[in-house]
Amino acid sequence: MISFAVQETSSANRNQTKNRKGTKTKTLQDLFLDELADMYDAENRLVKALPKMAKAATDGALREAFQSHLSQTEGHVSKVEEVFAACDAKAKGKKCEAIAGLLEEGDDIASENKGSPTINAALISAAQKVEHYEIASYGTLCEWAKLLDNSTASELLGEILEEEKAADAALTNLARSRSNESAMEGEETTEGYQRQRSRGMPARSSRLRVT
Ligand SMILES: [Fe+2]
Repeated sequence: MISFAVQETSSANRNQTKNRKGTKTKTLQDLFLDELADMYDAENRLVKALPKMAKAATDGALREAFQSHLSQTEGHVSKVEEVFAACDAKAKGKKCEAIAGLLEEGDDIASENKGSPTINAALISAAQKVEHYEIASYGTLCEWAKLLDNSTASELLGEILEEEKAADAALTNLARSRSNESAMEGEETTEGYQRQRSRGMPARSSRLRVT
């Protein structure tokens, strides 16, 4: 049975050994490379997904944000390859089930909201779930690289981490300044909203329209 208890990694078990069941004991370096392979796959999936997300966006500013994050993401693929090189390892991907699932969910949410004023808010929500996964993963990888005394790897991973955080913050700004308000347009046509208006409740000012 698998337990989530954390196993101490000491210098004594950094060399590959066999555990009581005869399977290879993972070292922190192994775990680091596994997680890096996960992110290599994630970034490559995002390079394919971002142009579709940009195409689905009806707000010009959001489309631009996705396009600019695409060039950053291509840069992340190269940086992850440099991290592999800094570990004397060959770059390889391992299917990132989490990102594959989040992108699949993003596809569904995009088709469900296509043609509605909610489309941009829906795309931002899908994109931010991806960003948060990346932030968690690169944050962890960066700390592990420091523990493994690999300064080149920790610097590169730190750079990617900061770009992911900035992309996430840019999406929050877009949601607050444009897309969430636009998504409320749909509410204004509902019976409930009309009832509120007829009771004299104030209308929201400056409704931003998507381009
Ligand atoms: Fe990335």
